[in-house]
Amino acid sequence: EQIEKSGYEHFMLKEIFEQPKSVHDTMRGRLLVEEGVIKMAGIWDHIERFKNANRIIIIACGTSWHAGLIGEYLIEEYARIPVEVEYASEFRYRNPIITDKDVVIAISQSGETADTMAALKLAKEKGAFIYGICNVVDSSIARITDAGSYTHAGPEIGVASTKAFTAQLTILSLIALKLGKHNGNLGNADFMSLIAELDAIPKKIEDVLSSTHELVQNIAKDFVNATNFLYLGRGYNYPAALEGALKLKEISYIHAEGYPAAEMKHGPIALIDENMPIVIIAPKKGHYDKIVSNVQEIKARKGKVIAVVNNGDTQVSEMSDYVIEIPETSECFSPIVASVPLQLLAYYIAVYRGANVDQPRNLAKSVTVE
Ligand code: G6P
Repeated sequence: EQIEKSGYEHFMLKEIFEQPKSVHDTMRGRLLVEEGVIKMAGIWDHIERFKNANRIIIIACGTSWHAGLIGEYLIEEYARIPVEVEYASEFRYRNPIITDKDVVIAISQSGETADTMAALKLAKEKGAFIYGICNVVDSSIARITDAGSYTHAGPEIGVASTKAFTAQLTILSLIALKLGKHNGNLGNADFMSLIAELDAIPKKIEDVLSSTHELVQNIAKDFVNATNFLYLGRGYNYPAALEGALKLKEISYIHAEGYPAAEMKHGPIALIDENMPIVIIAPKKGHYDKIVSNVQEIKARKGKVIAVVNNGDTQVSEMSDYVIEIPETSECFSPIVASVPLQLLAYYIAVYRGANVDQPRNLAKSVTVE
């Protein structure tokens, strides 16, 4: 097992550090920047189904559901196809309206999650076209779908998903850009600059890992005894906040909640005092000015702010207690980069609390019961 961990203390840390490679592997052979092409046989062979789709329904559980939420933003923004994102367990039991004009995308790292599988079977029975985004090759979900794309992140051993999540975001980015380009909603110049930006993401993850690793360890030491955490983000980074909170909950057993930053005033603000740590994801692109006022509201109530901002940021940084800098990228890809220091933060807080990060209590890597 020590050999498999390649010198890392836990699989989770190893997998966090594998992300420059896993994101790259997910794009390899698909993203051809110089040719200006995204090659995805699963999409291309069924392009008419996607083109004629009334809507896309994304179904998933856990971390994969968070990836689905970001997929909704991506596909609606670039391909202009309406998207709904559903928890597989809720979708299945609420007598959903599904027709043969729907495309259902299931996202599952393991490809074995029982709720996702059951929801897919139902969608298939009703005639929808079903597409899988799985990490495990030849898994049950990969086998029952009409078509799909593997994430190619490599085996993920840590129960808390890290590299599978960023690989899912990568695939969803490729799908959204490919569909947008094909149906004419995404012009060539924008397409070209977005694919160049996506191609640069593995290097940006590498930079974040080296520039924030030590810093995040130090921040984590100050929060070992925290009992609650709030994670806030807007737009594409709202689901990234949900995922940041889930990571912390899963492995450190600290209660954490993710929220859209603007919704803070409708409830969570009542919780803020000097004992409440708040992680804010505030890259320059995407509602930055609004986030600035959210941070002001928090500081007025003495909350402890840990801000994830772009390199060279001043406004949010000056008000924050802790600052984690990440490189700038297009708003739509920023969750891929911003998630990395949040994974590290959850990891180190859990390690300092003496928790078993690779095998957290009560959780399983793949949940094969409903
Ligand atoms: C379990 C795992 C989570 C995962 C979820 C969905 O709860 O602990 O990490 O996100 O299942 O799994 P899937 O394999 O379908 O992505």
